[in-house]
Amino acid sequence: MKLMEIIQEMRSVFEKTFGKEPARAYFSPGRVNLIGEHTDYNGGHVFPCAITLGTYALVADREDNVTRMYSMNLPKAGVVEFPMTGLRKDPAKDWANYPMGVVDVFEKAGHRASHGFDILVYGTLPAGAGLSSSASIEVLMSVILNEAFGLDLDMVEMVKLSQRAENQFVGVNCGIMDQFAVGMGKKDHAILLDCNTLEYRYSKLVLTGTSIVITNTNKPHSLASSAYNVRRAQCEHALNELKEIRPELGALGELSNEEFEQLAGHVTEVLERHRARHAVFENTRTLEAVKALEANDVAAFGRLMNASHYSLRDDYEVTGVELDTLAEIAWGVEGVIGSRMTGAGFGGSTVSLVKNEAIEGFKQQVEAEYTKKIGYAPSFVVAGISDGTRRIEL
Ligand code: GLA
Repeated sequence: MKLMEIIQEMRSVFEKTFGKEPARAYFSPGRVNLIGEHTDYNGGHVFPCAITLGTYALVADREDNVTRMYSMNLPKAGVVEFPMTGLRKDPAKDWANYPMGVVDVFEKAGHRASHGFDILVYGTLPAGAGLSSSASIEVLMSVILNEAFGLDLDMVEMVKLSQRAENQFVGVNCGIMDQFAVGMGKKDHAILLDCNTLEYRYSKLVLTGTSIVITNTNKPHSLASSAYNVRRAQCEHALNELKEIRPELGALGELSNEEFEQLAGHVTEVLERHRARHAVFENTRTLEAVKALEANDVAAFGRLMNASHYSLRDDYEVTGVELDTLAEIAWGVEGVIGSRMTGAGFGGSTVSLVKNEAIEGFKQQVEAEYTKKIGYAPSFVVAGISDGTRRIEL
């Protein structure tokens, strides 16, 4: 659907649902990470971009202190209602806990809402694809609050508040990458972000004749969040052991590969040594990959993407048969420059750089071989690179 059609359709659903006209419209993208996986909470670098799929919202102010939200993607959940103060996580309110979390952290940061809203959302991100639909809706809610109450927060502050909502209200211990990529995205650019300092710069994606293809494993029910927390704890423990001999060490992302190899013996658990090695080497790889891309060496970038997948498979162990199958098939397809899992892992999607003329063949081959091995089909998105969360014309 084109933007105009989406807004028109949403306008009519809004009027039917809330019995009034919307006043403002917003778009908040999803994200795909090109390289730098499981490095954000280890104080390393990431290299994501915001994509043209995301979450649309139509909004009208209310006079009372209640917000009513309706998602066109989840009509069965109906209109979800919540007050704009004193919120607690409520599993019965399902997806609305993300925007509720944002309202709550804003309130705790001293940005108290003076009224509620009627909000209609419509998402074009496939659910469970690992493309950050939750960060998309969190930053969206932050921008809605910021504008409505004239808070004058800059995007990085809103990104941090959105991450806090996910950590403290929703209870998922994610790093900063997703909210940062969603909020700070820039059309046709990826973001090199140092998660230790939050310094960042944009890098133009000149992928002449090449596209970013996202392939969704369509794996149902992944247990990503508990395994994610285990990986975090393993890295933290490894870091603490290294600190015993290097007290000034603040994060694994501060180490070079060579420094890590020298120190690695001080991490007593073999498994934790492997986890820490991934964090360090992936950070180095990310910096090398950006250098390669900026020198127009797309082939080297692709090789580093593949190496990232090996490390996530062997050292970090967050891939699983579905993601490995997708990556392995992709590596054998003519015209694929690089392919790896993206996001937290376990399920979700891979990201591949594919020559434009090879995309159709890529889809056919990956679909046939994956379906044969896994028993159900994957799905594909050729991603455009978008600006971050913003107001759009109604
Ligand atoms: C999820 C988290 C991010 C990041 C990635 C792995 O997407 O939300 O903070 O840790 O996994 O790179």
